[in-house]
Amino acid sequence: MNPPRSETLPLRSDEDLVRVRQAVRAWMVEQNFNLVEQTKMVTAASELGRNALVYGGGGSARLESPVDGGHGGIRVTFEDHGPGIADIAQALSNGFSTGGGLGLGLGGAKRLVKDFEIFSEPGQGTRVIITIRK
Ligand SMILES: Nc1ncnc2c1ncn2[C@@H]1O[C@H](COP(=O)(O)OP(=O)(O)OP(=O)(O)O)[C@@H](O)[C@H]1O
Ligand SMILES: [Mg+2]
Repeated sequence: MNPPRSETLPLRSDEDLVRVRQAVRAWMVEQNFNLVEQTKMVTAASELGRNALVYGGGGSARLESPVDGGHGGIRVTFEDHGPGIADIAQALSNGFSTGGGLGLGLGGAKRLVKDFEIFSEPGQGTRVIITIRK
């Protein structure tokens, strides 16, 4: 079995976001997740990374494997120290945006990756964790 590993990537620019997408894709391919699973994870990562960039003022994405002492799986944790989200349920609902967006990213990511956790504290920042198990 592969040894545990983790990789933390900065999220400060569009180029960083591309690198995060590429890293998530590469880890998914390495673990033989199928194309549909890859695309779900990469799309969710892309939306969460963009939110960290746009609303969180930048942050980081940490990739980890395996998950919870299992044999595989991938967890990606997005973290920023921006203004946080006052009402998480509202932020998750379709069509809610404070930035003139479509308001589909956060809720869409949650629908794509069922194992989805979000923690946010106004004034402290936001952490979103998506996990796919093997
Ligand atoms: N990391 C974050 N920090 C602070 N607020 C956030 C963060 N992520 C999301 N939000 C808030 O939640 C709202 C909804 O996010 P969501 O990704 O669903 O929509 P959007 O980014 O506005 O538009 P879209 O993703 O469809 O382009 C955002 O408009 C913003 O107010
Ligand atoms: Mg968004």
